Amino acid sequence: MTSEHKATISFSDGTAPVDFPIYKGSVGPDVIDIRKLYGATGKFTFDPGFLSTAACESEITYIDGDKGELLYRGYPIEELAVHCDYLETCYLLLNGELPTQPERDDFEMRVMRHTMVHEQMTRFFTGFRRDAHPMAILVGCVGALSAFYHDSLDIQNPDHRFVSAIRLLAKMPTLVAMAHKYSVGQPFMYPRNNLSYTGNLMHMMFGVPCEEYQVNDVLVRALDRILILHADHEQNASTSTVRLAGSSGANPFACIAAGIATLWGPAHGGANEACLVMLNDIKQRGGVAKIGDFIKEVKDKDSGVKLMGFGHRVYKNYDPRAKLMRETCYEVLGALGLENDPDFALAMKLEQIALEDDYFVKRKLYPNVDFYSGIVQKALGIPVEMFTCIFALARTVGWIAQWAEMISDPDQKIGRPRQLFTGPTRRVVKPMAQR
Ligand code: ACO
Repeated sequence: MTSEHKATISFSDGTAPVDFPIYKGSVGPDVIDIRKLYGATGKFTFDPGFLSTAACESEITYIDGDKGELLYRGYPIEELAVHCDYLETCYLLLNGELPTQPERDDFEMRVMRHTMVHEQMTRFFTGFRRDAHPMAILVGCVGALSAFYHDSLDIQNPDHRFVSAIRLLAKMPTLVAMAHKYSVGQPFMYPRNNLSYTGNLMHMMFGVPCEEYQVNDVLVRALDRILILHADHEQNASTSTVRLAGSSGANPFACIAAGIATLWGPAHGGANEACLVMLNDIKQRGGVAKIGDFIKEVKDKDSGVKLMGFGHRVYKNYDPRAKLMRETCYEVLGALGLENDPDFALAMKLEQIALEDDYFVKRKLYPNVDFYSGIVQKALGIPVEMFTCIFALARTVGWIAQWAEMISDPDQKIGRPRQLFTGPTRRVVKPMAQR
């Protein structure tokens, strides 16, 4: 990184002014490199929630929140969603370029040959209660992969990193489908490597051993698109967690498990589940006629109610993924003869009312990807509690790509934020009788 410009910070407390280099990215805001601030002044910066802090340099994904633009390695998400499938998108995120046909075939062959999990993994599943949330199972089982695949855990070895990446990509659909099968009490389905990546996922989710599962190409394409749209999203909470966990040298399976745990929260990947719960709640109150009352509640800060699937830290315009997801909704509901789906009708009305409301307009709150993804997933037959697992599956490639980028960065350091301490200063422990 080279710097043509500098920022000078002056202080009113007598500390001498300090110059900091300003770096330019290929696009997006410049950054001020404040790494020497503490050494020069004895002060930290304070930025809880990372509102103004770039925590790393990255070449993978770029979001222009004002324009509503999302680029994977420079390619707009709208073009990838139309011209590529999920595995090509994975190749792109991991390698920086779209694959040629032979590269794609080779990549697919490698991924599909790793789809089985160690047979003993089934015992992990049976150790969970039947009513366990599938995300709880997924956090545990993905972390447990590191106990089975010791032979690819040397993170300094690029071949090990590659094998771990392939294993994670290949085994996530199997683990996600097993989490689903376990919760509904059906037998686990072994993967079918002659199917496409997403076709195989549907086979493992919805097939049963007593009959042949017929893969529906329209539905496979829709699910594949959901995976593409969720594949990466630069330095979001779960990705930053993966990077932070990985910065200590933890193995990739453990890091991805940490990412899955972070994704689970309703402010992040859990929002699609929360969005469907919200739609059901509005339906129970009386449906479209009650949207006005619901919006009033959302605007009342004391209610604690949010319009789930709306708002985003980075997008201050329509999330481009939400637009594609709404189109996918039309396609899937059309293919299934569910054009009059009440959730979809309610969501579209809710979106229309919110986008005309001053509260949302002023705060630039638009639908995010989760607003429509739950409706598509439900139509595909995916149970609500599995939605975030599908998101985790899709995002695994982004987490791995970001983790691998961090590990190969020669400037990489353990992530160690500082704090503004406001607790008690040094004091003396009194014996029990004097407290
Ligand atoms: N409903 C109602 N009000 C909202 C919403 C919402 N969904 N989102 C933001 N606001 C309001 C806030 O209350 C705040 O109002 P104020 O300025 O009067 O205090 C203002 O808009 C700014 O919001 P912040 O919370 O400061 O925005 P932040 O960037 O911290 O949060 C977040 C972004 C977490 C996504 C938030 O918009 C939210 O909770 N949305 C609902 C959950 C959701 O859909 N999450 C999915 C995100 S996308 C993803 O992870 C795939």
